[in-house]
Amino acid sequence: MMEYFAVDGAHPLEGRVTIHGAKNSALPILAATLLADGESIIHNCPSLTDCAAALEILSCLGCRVKREGNTVVVNTTCRRGYTIPNKLMERMRASVLFLGALLAREGSAVACWPGGCALGARPIDLHIRAFQALGAQVRTWNGQLYLEGTHLRGRRLALPIPSVGATENAMLAACSAEGITVIDNPAREPEIVDLQGFLRRMGARISGAGTDQITVEGGYPLHPGEYTVMADRIVAATYLCAVAAASGEGELHGAEGSHLTPVLTALTAAGCEIASQADGLWIRRKGPLTGIGSICTGPYPAFPTDAQPLLVAALAGGEGKSRVTETIFDHRFRYIQGLARMGACIQVRGDTASIVGQPLQGACVEAVDLRGGAALAVAALGARGESRIFGLTHIERGYECLDRDLSALGGQISRKREND
Ligand code: EPZ
Repeated sequence: MMEYFAVDGAHPLEGRVTIHGAKNSALPILAATLLADGESIIHNCPSLTDCAAALEILSCLGCRVKREGNTVVVNTTCRRGYTIPNKLMERMRASVLFLGALLAREGSAVACWPGGCALGARPIDLHIRAFQALGAQVRTWNGQLYLEGTHLRGRRLALPIPSVGATENAMLAACSAEGITVIDNPAREPEIVDLQGFLRRMGARISGAGTDQITVEGGYPLHPGEYTVMADRIVAATYLCAVAAASGEGELHGAEGSHLTPVLTALTAAGCEIASQADGLWIRRKGPLTGIGSICTGPYPAFPTDAQPLLVAALAGGEGKSRVTETIFDHRFRYIQGLARMGACIQVRGDTASIVGQPLQGACVEAVDLRGGAALAVAALGARGESRIFGLTHIERGYECLDRDLSALGGQISRKREND
C-alpha cells in the first residue's frame, strides 16, 4: 500500500522542534571512519535512509556498525576490500565519498560510475582530477571506476568550482598523501568544517575548512575518533519556511543561525520576525508573506541551493512577486509541478523561477526529490484544505520524521496508507 502525508493546511503553527543531525555532515564523517582501524563513535547521526545506506557500505567493507539511538559506532578493525557494491553506489550519490576514504586507507577503490539524479547530471570529474593530482591512477572500464594510488603525494590543487563532494574527497585522500596538500577554492559549507573537526579528532593535521584554502599535512597514521555531528541547517530552513508559509510562530532547538544567514535575510524581507535564542532560533509570521524581489542560489555562504525549493514553496502561497535563480543544479525546479497543482503561479524560464504569490488549495501531489518533497509539505501547510503527498521515500532520505517534526510545530500532518 502506498503511504502518504495527509496535511490539513491554512492553520497557523505554534510549537517547538529539535533539529536533528546534518545528513550532509554525517555522510562524509561516516566515510572518514575508514581512515583508521578501530572503533569510532558518531553522535547526533540522524536516522535517515541515506545514513543507513552509508552504514550498509561500511558493513559491506567488513566493518561492524551499530546504532544506539542517534549514536552510531563503527568498528573498522575487520575492514576488508575496497569495492563499493553497485546497488549501494546507485542508491545514493553521496556513496562517491567512500572513494576518497578507500583510496586513502587501501590505496585502491572500485565503484560503478555514479549516475545522474533528479537534480541533473552531477558529474564527478572534479573528484577524479583531485585524486589524480595527488598521484592516483584512475581507469574506467565497463561502467566501473578503478582508483589506484598506494603512494599519494601532497600537492597544491585548485578546484575550478567549490564542489562540496570534491572538496570532501580531496580532504579524505590528502590525509594519506605524504607531505602538504593545499586545496584552493574549496567548498566552504559548515559541513566541510564538521568533517575537518572529525578528522582532527582522528589525529589528522588539517586546517582552513570554511575558508578559501584548506591545508592537510598527510601521511601520518590516524586513530578512531568520537564526534558529534552539527545540526542540519537545511532541515532548520525547512521548518522556518513552514512557519513562513502557514503563519504562526515556532522555536527550532539546535538551529544555528550563522549557518543560515541568507535564508534568514530572505524570510525577514518577506515579513517574518526571526531571533536567535540561547539554543536555537525563533520565528513568527503574523502579517502577510510578501515578495522579496530577486535572489540567487550559490556556493556557501550564498543562498543554499537545498533551501531554494523550501523558500519558493513558502513564497508561492504569499503575496507579491519574487524571482529565484538556481545556479547550482540544472533540474532543481521539478517540484514546481506539484506546487502548480496547489494553484501556485510560478513561471520557470531557464534557471529562474518567477513567483506571483497567491492563496493555494490543497491537492494530491508526489515528491520527485528530497528537498522538492519537503517543499510540497511546506506549501501544503499554508494551503487551504487537505493535501496528500506521495513519494515519501524521497523525503525519508533527508528528514528523520518530517510529519513528527511538523506536527511538533503545530502542523496538522500525519502519515497514512492509501486504504486508511
Ligand atoms: C552536496 O552535493 C550535497 N550533498 C547536496 O545536497 C547539495 O545540494 C550540494 O552539495 C550543493 O551544496 C551532500 O553533501 C551529500 P557539488 P554535491 O559537488 O557534493 C558540479 C541534499 O539535498 N560538479 O557541490 O554532489 C555539480 O554538477 C543534497 O542534501 C561538477 O561539475 O554537490 C553541481 O552543478 C542535494 N563536477 C555543482 O558542481 C564534479 O566533479 C555543485 O555540486 C562535482 C560537482
